[in-house]
Amino acid sequence: MNKKITLALAGLVSLAVSGVAGAVDTRARFMAANCSYCHGPNGKSHGAIPSLAGLEPGYFVDQMKAFRDGSRPATVMKKHAAGYTDAEFEALAKYFASIK
Ligand code: HEC
Repeated sequence: MNKKITLALAGLVSLAVSGVAGAVDTRARFMAANCSYCHGPNGKSHGAIPSLAGLEPGYFVDQMKAFRDGSRPATVMKKHAAGYTDAEFEALAKYFASIK
């Protein structure tokens, strides 16, 4: 393989990788919009409901799983945790943890 083709391929691969990362982030933002009504825009609450911004991802995922399976008592969060996969909890956790 000549050098030009190798360089062009390397460029394509990095484009593809950044494209995938961007898609995950967009999807997480889209899901997070469903939470902003109660938890505040960008997960920054100004009321009695806890903020999500800056939560430790491991804690976030554990709470979401506990709400979904009913092991953490909740008024509304059981309903809001239902219907998301573990991978979606991870993506949301990463998104909220990234907000300063
Ligand atoms: C209708 C209002 C409402 C919506 C919408 C909502 N939540 Fe909640 N959330 C609450 C309330 C109230 C609590 C406290 C637990 C309870 O009573 O259900 C809570 C608690 C939590 C907690 C625990 C926080 C902590 O510090 O322990 C997490 C995590 C959470 N919500 C994530 C989410 C995510 C992610 C979404 C969107 C997919 C979401 N919530 C949508 C009202 C809401």
